[in-house]
Amino acid sequence: PTNLGTQSTDNSFIKKLKSSGRSLVVFYGSQTGTGEEFAGRLAKEGIRYHLKGMVADPEECDMEELTNLKDIPNSLAVFCLATYGEGDPTDNAMEFYEWLQNSDTDFTGLNYAVFGLGNKTYEHYNEVAKYVDKRLAELGATRVFELGLGDDDANIEDDFITWKDRFWPAVCEFYGIEATGEDVSVRQYRLTENPDVGSDRIYTGEVARLHSLRNQRAPFDAKNPFLATIKVNRELHKSGERSCMHIEFDIEGSKMRYDTGDHLAVYPVNSEELVNKLGELLNVDLDTVIILTNTDEESSKKHPFPCPCSYRTALTHYLDITCNPRTHILKELIEYTKDPEEQEKLRSMASTTPEGKELYNQWIIQDNRNIVHILEDLKSCKPALDHLCELLPRLQARYYSISSSPKVYPTTVHITALLVQYETPTGRTNKGVATSWLATKMPSEGGLPVTAPIYIRRSQFRLPTRAQTPIIMIGPGTGLAPFRGFIQERNQLKEEGKVIGDTILYFGCRRKAEDFIYEEELNEYVKKDVLTMHVAFSRDQAHKVYVTHLLQKNMDEIWRVIGENNGHLYVCGDARNMARDVHDLVLKVVQEKGSMTESAAQDYVKKMEAQKRYSADVWS
Ligand code: FAD
Ligand code: 2AM
Repeated sequence: PTNLGTQSTDNSFIKKLKSSGRSLVVFYGSQTGTGEEFAGRLAKEGIRYHLKGMVADPEECDMEELTNLKDIPNSLAVFCLATYGEGDPTDNAMEFYEWLQNSDTDFTGLNYAVFGLGNKTYEHYNEVAKYVDKRLAELGATRVFELGLGDDDANIEDDFITWKDRFWPAVCEFYGIEATGEDVSVRQYRLTENPDVGSDRIYTGEVARLHSLRNQRAPFDAKNPFLATIKVNRELHKSGERSCMHIEFDIEGSKMRYDTGDHLAVYPVNSEELVNKLGELLNVDLDTVIILTNTDEESSKKHPFPCPCSYRTALTHYLDITCNPRTHILKELIEYTKDPEEQEKLRSMASTTPEGKELYNQWIIQDNRNIVHILEDLKSCKPALDHLCELLPRLQARYYSISSSPKVYPTTVHITALLVQYETPTGRTNKGVATSWLATKMPSEGGLPVTAPIYIRRSQFRLPTRAQTPIIMIGPGTGLAPFRGFIQERNQLKEEGKVIGDTILYFGCRRKAEDFIYEEELNEYVKKDVLTMHVAFSRDQAHKVYVTHLLQKNMDEIWRVIGENNGHLYVCGDARNMARDVHDLVLKVVQEKGSMTESAAQDYVKKMEAQKRYSADVWS
């Protein structure tokens, strides 16, 4: 059963539905907020079809009540579920997912539909949504509309609105209802400006608890980050236009511990320049203090972000102002736009017509416009800032693979971060939120400490338990990060007199004289016989040389490690091309050197993954 820990009646979603006359409940499995946002949009739109809706977090609900949903006339449960990592559900959907796997509950009479949020770059595309959709049917529930799959690597907004456009007519047909045509543009939050509160009650960027960044209290986690002092921030590139930072965070006294292979999460802030620009474009005094209060009293989410706070705090710490706004935001902008042409442009982009979708894809996605760019380019569009604050998604923490080992650096956490900066087709320079901010965090001797809110996220990316187990690490570019920690740890073990197995690194970068990061350190380990290193420089000669080319040449060595000596293989870095190419190559090695058929080789690699002998720490 789910939620044994929470005994309060608050977790009865059936009670909430009944008491507020609703029949639609939209559950979300969301890590970064997109699933939650989609759920919110569906719940809101239900009113158009006489299905008053409510959003619900499965973690806060007694999910066994799903069997009672059928008692409510015209009831429907929709699930917006994201898939992460190796096909895992989000934290808030974990318990529900496991319960569904182990339960034989009879769901007869439950009407449902599922929309999945995934990313085709990864191997286990939308596995969670696919499973829940299939499992509920197996257990007797009625699928009202086919499973929808969103691909975040392409245009997930398009996938969602395309699915939604067919979902609602199917719902109407299923229940024999007709659309009311009622406008759904209702505000979710009520604005209070300049509330009568003391200045010490106003949030200034805390993630949750008021003053938590000033009065730090362990344990530190996603809701309560540790304000770490940055001790070192140095450039790793030797030349060239790009920049890669080696940053060391002090965690002494925080009671935070980490393992080699874990991730560091950083809460960034938005650029002051962009925030100010928004204030200017909308002619708003950004230091006005506001409270946004949910008009839905049943909702467990009273405010969209910590309130009261100033517009400046909201735009700096809490809201994502650099994303490409989704279509529902463009739709809300229409009523704030005077110029008929600009209005028409927004209306078209917010529609689901082929021309509209094409325009959205071109003008927003391909041209990479954020809200500031949109307001600059649609001069007559002047939305109420509080409405924008309600609509923009939450600013997310960024993750970095920890590039140190606690065995060597117990009180500092190192990361290796590539500065993101690029030109957009409209001639603007976009700057990565977190990396541009980190680039300004330069400690100086005698100066004030520079700090950043962080927490440590556990990962599954681990060295083998036995030091003698041979390992192959494949990490071009910043993919080297966690392997720096791995190598440090093995070096330490060797210094302690332990016998260590083969420790083989495949590193790749553009040019030896430019972005061969940590070159000197790595050479030291090679000299000390701790490390075997293969390096690919992709742009030092006329033709490309990648780590995959080197792997291709060393197929015997790879098979000796993974096939004959039960070794581990790790890959880290770019998920889009590199990790996939490596996967194909490993299959080839197993097939050729292990004399297996293609399908036997596939099974072999699957087994390696299950045994954690083949692990990936990749991002796109
Ligand atoms: P953002 O403001 O988030 O901007 C990045 C976005 O800009 C991209 O998603 C893309 O949509 C867009 N973009 C970027 N470049 C271009 C371009 N040339 N053209 C068009 N659009 C573009 N990063 C590291 O540097 N080192 C690590 O060790 C590391 N480890 C990670 C581990 C995990 C588990 C994950 C999920 C990510 C990791 N990352 C790592 C990536 C990191 O989390 C951030 O995504 C990255 O630093 C960019 O953050 P940002 O806020 O600076 O950029
Ligand atoms: P490139 O940028 O010259 O194409 C780190 O980013 C290194 O990985 C770069 O040298 C980059 O080369 C290289 N790289 C790009 N695509 C790759 C792939 N599919 N497999 C392996 N390495 C790749």
